[in-house]
Amino acid sequence: MSKELIEKAKEKFGIIIEEQLKRVEEMKKPVETPDYAALPEIIIGICWGDGIGKIISKHAQTVLEHVLKDEVAKGKIKFKDIQGLTIENRAKHKKAIPDDVLAEIKSCHVILKGPTTTPQAGDKWPNIESANVAIRRYLDLFANVRPVRIPKEGIDWCFFRENTEGAYVLGSRGFDVSDDLSVDFTVTTEQGSERIIRMAFEYAKNNNIDKVTVVTKSNVVKTTDGRFSKAAVRIAKEYPKIKLDEWYIDIMTAKLIDPARRKEFKVMVLPNLYGDILTDEAAQMQGGVGTAGSANIGKKWSMFEAIHGSAPRMIEEGRDKFADPCSMIRASAMLLRHIGFKERAEKIEMALDICGQFEKKMLITGRDTGVSGEEYTTYLLSWVDNPKLKIQWEKSVNEPCY
Ligand code: IPM
Ligand code: MG
Repeated sequence: MSKELIEKAKEKFGIIIEEQLKRVEEMKKPVETPDYAALPEIIIGICWGDGIGKIISKHAQTVLEHVLKDEVAKGKIKFKDIQGLTIENRAKHKKAIPDDVLAEIKSCHVILKGPTTTPQAGDKWPNIESANVAIRRYLDLFANVRPVRIPKEGIDWCFFRENTEGAYVLGSRGFDVSDDLSVDFTVTTEQGSERIIRMAFEYAKNNNIDKVTVVTKSNVVKTTDGRFSKAAVRIAKEYPKIKLDEWYIDIMTAKLIDPARRKEFKVMVLPNLYGDILTDEAAQMQGGVGTAGSANIGKKWSMFEAIHGSAPRMIEEGRDKFADPCSMIRASAMLLRHIGFKERAEKIEMALDICGQFEKKMLITGRDTGVSGEEYTTYLLSWVDNPKLKIQWEKSVNEPCY
């Protein structure tokens, strides 16, 4: 009996190893990165998502259309409406991303994606893979870049979360070996570690930041996290002006909320699961996960999204119009910067900081005690267009307000 189980498990393990070795070979191949300035037309695909996704993505599109008015009129920017990335359609096809939806996504240059529902065993949906994890894998979006800024506290963090490996890449591929034994897998490759660590160092170099913090648990998870950590030591040697600082994930979660230490961190690079957890903690300090955006960057495509989920409870309780659109609006600012509209991205970010952390003329609370997402978007846009935007933002950094 147990011999048979072992053989079956070995067979499954063999298939996984074969696939991962192929993925390594794919990563070694050169991929052309688009030059957005030279493209006659940039296509921004919008996937609306589930739950509050539909409504907050719409507000983000309003902001993008507002700041890109001229480019849309000239035909340089085109929006593409992608309808099929909903839990109903995904459940119908029993696929994380139905084939026709994936083809539409791939026909765009960049994607703005609303939160999608991730099924879990026991809920009403088939237990298909998360759409997020699948898009990241299909488009090889290896870098999940998540900034968190609290200007008045001097906090300006940028997290570089590895996005295609770790506990996630095979998160739906674990198996029950027997009635009593389950196994999952975590995978770290040299190529996968190198590309995200290098991106973090390049970001530090380009922004005159003299330290990169790598977060692992390499003292315990010795092989996979060990590889990530060793890759960081190797790559750091190429950047003699930047110090490499290594922390373990447990103490890092503590230090991030330590007022005496947290300002010291600037750029953090970390494996997938740790990045998932630490960035929710960081976002909470900025005002909640509803305020944080995220860029998923690959060589060819990129996707921009909120860091949170689809909030089904808000829908059940009829509170969707009060959902905070700031996460998707921050993601839109990141999208703008990525395709070459740096100044417009900065304007949106400054407006978000002023409205959310300084002026706070309107509050978004997720319920009828605050304003609706639509009203908040109009409030934000009034600051985006305000000639005093930069002056007010600088003031808000220097003057404590709460
Ligand atoms: C995120 C989310 C996703 C993740 C979920 C929805 C699969 O929590 O983007 O952080 O775990 O990556
Ligand atoms: Mg998360």
